Amino acid sequence: MENIEGKVVVITGASSGFGKISAEYLSERGALVALGARSTDKIEKLAKEINDKGGKAIAVTTDVKDKDQVKKLVDEAVKEFGKIDVMLNNAGIMPLSPLENLKIEDWDSCIDINIKGVLYGIAAALPHMKEKKSGQIINVSSVAGHTISPGSAVYSATKHAVRVISEGLRQEVKPYNIRTSIISPGAVDTGLPGSVTDDSVSGNVKDFYKDTAISADSFARALIYAISQPEDVDINEILYRPTKQKL
Ligand SMILES: NC(=O)c1ccc[n+]([C@@H]2O[C@H](COP(=O)([O-])OP(=O)(O)OC[C@H]3O[C@@H](n4cnc5c(N)ncnc54)[C@H](OP(=O)(O)O)[C@@H]3O)[C@@H](O)[C@H]2O)c1
Repeated sequence: MENIEGKVVVITGASSGFGKISAEYLSERGALVALGARSTDKIEKLAKEINDKGGKAIAVTTDVKDKDQVKKLVDEAVKEFGKIDVMLNNAGIMPLSPLENLKIEDWDSCIDINIKGVLYGIAAALPHMKEKKSGQIINVSSVAGHTISPGSAVYSATKHAVRVISEGLRQEVKPYNIRTSIISPGAVDTGLPGSVTDDSVSGNVKDFYKDTAISADSFARALIYAISQPEDVDINEILYRPTKQKL
C-alpha cells in the first residue's frame, strides 16, 4: 500500500491488543516492524509468524519504564533495517481506581508507563528522525485524554499528558519535517481491562467493555490512515469511539 511498503515502524506494547494487530496490519502492507514489549515469548512468536509469512519483523524485549531498553529497541530497528520511519508509542496500562483507595503503586506505574514510556520513545526516535529530516511519531492517548470520570483521574491525567506532549512535540519538530499523530480510541476490545487491579471497579470495567467495546481492527485502520498519508499531510489526532459509547 502507498506510503506503507518499506517503512520501518517501531511498536511498543506489541505483545497484545493494538500493538499486535498494528504489527500484523502493517507487515501485511509491506512495512518492516520492530516489536517491543516485556513478554518476550509473545513478541518472538509474533515476529516469527510475520517472518514466516514473508514479512520482516524483529522482537526486542522492552520495558518502557527503562529508557535504555527503549533506546535499544529503536537502535536495534535502525541496525537491522537501516532507518526508522514511524515510532508508535503504544504501550500502556489502565489501572482505574478511585483516588480514595490510595492505589499509589498503580499511580506510579501508570505515570511511568503511560507518560514516561512515551517520552522515552520520543527520546529514542527523535535523533534518528532529525538526522533524516523525516519521520512520524504516533502516540496513543484515549477518549480518557479528553474526558474525566470517577475512578479515572490518574489514567485520564496520563492520557491528557500524552496529548499535551504530542502537541508540544508537533510544534517543536517543524524544522525537521517530522510529523506527529495522536490516536485517541474509546472502548476497544483488547487486554486493557486486565490491568485494573482494584476489585471495587474491575467488574464494572469488564462489564462496560463487554457491552460496549469494538474490535481492535478499528485502531489498525486509523493507524494505517495516519501512516499512509503523503509526507506533506500531518494527521495530528484521530479521536474515535464505539457508536454506542456515550462519554
Ligand atoms: N483498548 C482500549 O479500549 C483503549 C482505549 C484507549 C486507549 N488505549 C491505549 O492503547 C494502548 C494499548 O493498549 P491495549 O488496549 O492494546 O491493551 P493491552 O492489550 O493490554 O496491551 C497493552 C500492551 O502494553 C504493553 N505494556 C504494558 N506495560 C509495559 C511496559 N512496562 N513496557 C512495555 N510494554 C508494556 C503490554 O505488553 P507486556 O505486558 O508484554 O509488556 C501490551 O503489549 C494503551 O496505551 C492504552 O492506554 C486503549
